[in-house]
Amino acid sequence: MMDRVIELLDVWKAYDGVQALRGLNLEVYKGEIFGLLGPNGAGKTTTIKIIVGLLKMDRGSVRVNNFDIFEEPYGYKKFIGYVPESVSLPDYLTLEEFLIYSGKIRGVPNEQIRERMNHYINLFELTDKRRALILSLSRGMRQKIAIAAALIHDPDILILDEPFIGIDPAGQHMIKEIFNERVKDGKTIFISTHMLDTAERLCNRVAIIHNGQNVASGDLKNLQQLSEVGENATLEEVFLKLTEEAKEPIIEETAERKRRGFLGLIGRKI
Ligand SMILES: Nc1ncnc2c1ncn2[C@@H]1O[C@H](COP(=O)(O)OP(=O)(O)O)[C@@H](O)[C@H]1O
Ligand SMILES: [Mg+2]
Repeated sequence: MMDRVIELLDVWKAYDGVQALRGLNLEVYKGEIFGLLGPNGAGKTTTIKIIVGLLKMDRGSVRVNNFDIFEEPYGYKKFIGYVPESVSLPDYLTLEEFLIYSGKIRGVPNEQIRERMNHYINLFELTDKRRALILSLSRGMRQKIAIAAALIHDPDILILDEPFIGIDPAGQHMIKEIFNERVKDGKTIFISTHMLDTAERLCNRVAIIHNGQNVASGDLKNLQQLSEVGENATLEEVFLKLTEEAKEPIIEETAERKRRGFLGLIGRKI
């Protein structure tokens, strides 16, 4: 049996009036590159913020490395590294100063900070930017720095919300190399994305969420079977089929009654 490193059970979350998660279940195993997929507004960012402890769920349970994060909200954080959807870094520090700071607040020994900082600066080809103010760096460079900072304590689980937005192909390739290197060491990668071709190439396993529910999870083969789109279907076809099917039951009864009433009035044909 594979080790579960992240487990969500019946997680609910509403922002005043908006029900973002509706009983979400999710399992992520050790050593995989896991993709959380879903259209805009599906609840990906909400899910990630709950896992990393930035947002409180209304109901349900989340376990990370077997810590119940509600009961023990601090201990598990040393196991995770997090790169948010919109990276915001201190403009007034240099790249190097920011990485040193990130290592120090995580309690990483100086020697290791230096070693890992150099490793990622080289890998991301940022050597000539070491002493540049973050202020002066491009969006893609900032994203790379955020990833390096999230890895400075060598976490078991790296969680990234839409990591490939604004990154050039060479940068994307580099990030994928890092992912592959880490899973070889038994570390886990958790990404959210709506870019299906990326997920298809990169992820061992995915979950498709829609309206705050897990509508399907597994490897591409499982999903093809689940969605009955045929053996040669791409993830995109599976995704469209599954999110389309999931749409109907979500409409609440009253909304559905209003909809029918409305369509009865104006008709739906043109
Ligand atoms: N701070 C917020 N206040 C109100 N509604 C929010 C807030 N954040 C997200 N939502 C809503 O919750 C739902 C899920 O959003 P989100 O988790 O950001 O989805 P995704 O990351 O998959 O695009 C959406 O309907 C979104 O509009
Ligand atoms: Mg999002």
